[in-house]
Amino acid sequence: MWDHLWLGARLATMREGPGPYGVIIDGALGVKDGRIAFVGPEADLPGRPADLAHDVRPAHGAWVAPAPIDCHTHIVFAGERAAEFEMRAAGARYEDIHRAGGGIGATVRATRAASENELIDAARPRLRALMAEGVSTVEIKSGYGLEFATERRMLRAARRLGRELGLRVHTTFLGAHAAPPSLVKDKAAYLTEIVEEMIPALASEGLVDAVDAFCESIAFTPEETARVFEAARKHGLRVKLHADQISDRGGAALAAKFGALSADHLEHASADGLAAMAKAGTVAVLLPGAYLMLRDTRPPPVALMREKGVRMAVASDANPGSSPARSLLLMLPLACALFGLTPEEALAGVTREAARALGLLDETGTLEAGKSADYCLWDIGHPRELSYWLGNMRPQAICRMGQLDA
Ligand code: NIG
Ligand code: FE
Repeated sequence: MWDHLWLGARLATMREGPGPYGVIIDGALGVKDGRIAFVGPEADLPGRPADLAHDVRPAHGAWVAPAPIDCHTHIVFAGERAAEFEMRAAGARYEDIHRAGGGIGATVRATRAASENELIDAARPRLRALMAEGVSTVEIKSGYGLEFATERRMLRAARRLGRELGLRVHTTFLGAHAAPPSLVKDKAAYLTEIVEEMIPALASEGLVDAVDAFCESIAFTPEETARVFEAARKHGLRVKLHADQISDRGGAALAAKFGALSADHLEHASADGLAAMAKAGTVAVLLPGAYLMLRDTRPPPVALMREKGVRMAVASDANPGSSPARSLLLMLPLACALFGLTPEEALAGVTREAARALGLLDETGTLEAGKSADYCLWDIGHPRELSYWLGNMRPQAICRMGQLDA
């Protein structure tokens, strides 16, 4: 017997196929032991509903879609940087604030001063806000320590939050986030520490699912980034990259060369870089929150991504500087309005493609039998509405790893 079964649902499975959104009308969805046991037309159910499941529920025509996934966040941090936002509103540039010791450096100082419990207490309400939107899975980066103890504390906090909240947390080590001279005395020595000490130790502790770096004029060069990636490879870890956000540093091609799960931002990515990404299966993670809040004027080359066959995910980039986001769903209409994504691409971007960007597509991201039961019920007329309403969308019911909250 299944644990629960929805009848009379409209399913946006987000499976790739002939129809948009992978729609199934008059659908049913059954769940057993945390997994999707059945998804398809009600007429194809292998028996009478009452014989199939303990708990049979009418969906009354509500839409069921994969639970959203936030595949790029820096959501564990201490403090905030609203004063910098005010400075930027008055004309200051993100890079200049960064070079003057603010920006990432300011959050590093606050995060170094915070205990593990303080980091957890600060991040919990941010994660709860995402969870209220139905989010099942969140990628959380370190990168506000820039020293072993704090990087480790951030990753431990992320893991503990996942367990406490019943959320799937994917951790990413971003020791190569920045190296401001005020905080990192010797950049070359710091890189050696990342490669020879931090990655081996944090990986062996099971705290790292992937390794990221910020390849940019104000952070690490492509050569330095490659060193970090070599170390990740040596420890069997997949990589991803903050690439070509402020300038074209060849980040897209570099990510592709290392078979990265994703390359993120990409406002300045070149056509060759995108072609290499398509070939390597590296997903482009688009971050409209950072674009908006930095008042960027050059959107990522979405038309070129489509042309080259690059998969596109969408994420919040939740962080205290460039994207103080408390919502993932808000990024859908922003991705459509600012970057020209279609509503279907935007929804796929926080479901199927976000799962792919985390290497989790076999586990979640679409409604398919055998996958983790991660879905939401929406009281809407069509799934395109999820890319249309600007803020404050709440599902009627949420199921995360089989735990139904309705
Ligand atoms: O994804 N680009 C680097 N990292 C973050 C910003 C972090 C911060 O400003 O604190 C980003 O935009
Ligand atoms: Fe980021």
